[in-house]
Amino acid sequence: MSQRTLVLLKPDAVRRGLVGEILGRIERKAGWTISALELRTLDRAILEQHYAEHVGRPFYEALVEFMASGPAVALVVEGERVIEGVRALAGPTDPIAAAPGSIRGDFGTITRENLVHASDSEESAQREIKLFFPSLA
Ligand code: PPS
Repeated sequence: MSQRTLVLLKPDAVRRGLVGEILGRIERKAGWTISALELRTLDRAILEQHYAEHVGRPFYEALVEFMASGPAVALVVEGERVIEGVRALAGPTDPIAAAPGSIRGDFGTITRENLVHASDSEESAQREIKLFFPSLA
């Protein structure tokens, strides 16, 4: 089933020069297409909407502050089972628990700086694409 998902390459990925590496892994997946892409520094307003479900969690402030700390890359990826697929490429939230071969397993060190965000469901993907790329919604 063809789907769309919203992916963010977080500020640590940009700072560490890992954008090409991560985009390459997504691009090489057969049948997947990057259909929108933008480099931008995310402000609190968009991050508060994006992470609304996490308000009140102990990591919330640290997460928002980190995500606003420098440029990030936002992209939309389309293809077969891409929602589950990009999350599998990324690996679990905690990079230490992520297997080698996954983005977080290969390059991540601490949970906050875990390189990528990817929508976790069709509903989240729809909401997040509308937030980051209103013209595509
Ligand atoms: S949950 O419970 O499954 O919703 O949580 P999870 O998906 O693991 O995490 C939600 C987002 O919060 C980020 N996160 C953190 N940021 C900073 N510090 C700490 N300790 C921390 N723990 C979790 C995590 O990377 C998720 O961000 P996104 O952008 O969605 O990947």
